[in-house]
Amino acid sequence: MRNLKQLKEEIAELKQELRAIIIAHNYQRPEVQDIADFVGDSLELSRQCTEVNARTIVFCGVRFMAETAAILNPDRTVLLSEGSAGCPLADMISIDALREWKQRCPGASVVCYVNSSAEIKAESNICCTSANGVRVVDSVANDDVLFVPDQNLGHYVSTQTKKRLILYPGFCYVHHRLKPAQVKLAKRLHPEAQVLVHPECTPEVIALADAALSTSQMLHYAKASSHNSFIIGTEEGILHRLRQENPDKSFYLISNGQICTEMKKTTLETLARTMRLRQNIVTVPEEVRVKAKQAVDQMLAI
Ligand code: 13P
Ligand code: SF4
Repeated sequence: MRNLKQLKEEIAELKQELRAIIIAHNYQRPEVQDIADFVGDSLELSRQCTEVNARTIVFCGVRFMAETAAILNPDRTVLLSEGSAGCPLADMISIDALREWKQRCPGASVVCYVNSSAEIKAESNICCTSANGVRVVDSVANDDVLFVPDQNLGHYVSTQTKKRLILYPGFCYVHHRLKPAQVKLAKRLHPEAQVLVHPECTPEVIALADAALSTSQMLHYAKASSHNSFIIGTEEGILHRLRQENPDKSFYLISNGQICTEMKKTTLETLARTMRLRQNIVTVPEEVRVKAKQAVDQMLAI
């Protein structure tokens, strides 16, 4: 077993060898975030993938994120730091289910959350993230919008737009299981704190919050705010940057169950092994990639 210092040295050497950039999501383990060249939310990571000057992109996150990088970068090699890391929300919709829903809503534009497979993106008009859902939905041609696969983000967007949203019933288990009673208890324990939650939380939880924000929007909000304490309703990995960037402010989770086990599969060991063995290469069939890229490009253009 290599110690932390040796692992970091090996990753640095492999980075040179592979001419690689390491990109990590805000939910990754602190030591993984610290070694990455760029850390962000899904929208920032998608944008970052269009700007890389590297031969290899090593993605520390879950599969749909690495797939988005592969969709945008056909000429680069994309490695997923832990090959089995998926997103249970993204897996809740199959291509057959989407086609069936499309048939039932023939006059609707299809907006897919970025937490979806390349195949689902290829079958959608445009993609969105938690940071730009309202702008994306407002940009589509039709008044009716089929929104897949996250019902909670879709519901949140529906409260901010004139479009009529038809919601596919998917959800993220980490956010969906947060309960209003837990938020109320956290508010009683920290009455001075602002409540920031992710739009993947239920409408009942969002109703109790001061703001519903993507992970990076939470970071901007906490930094700019004159408040000194915050109750956080998203995956616990966000605490690392929140505390690093705001050493004088306090952050509390709503519950102790805010852990995405898929995001936590990546460790410095899995990252080093993936790079050493050049394994977990993520590819998307060209036919699917070209169509999926249109949905992602449309989003990045607005
Ligand atoms: P963000 O785009 O807000 O970082 O969210 C990604 C995600 O997977 C939320 O569960
Ligand atoms: Fe998917 Fe939820 Fe994990 Fe985000 S937190 S990657 S939506 S399972």
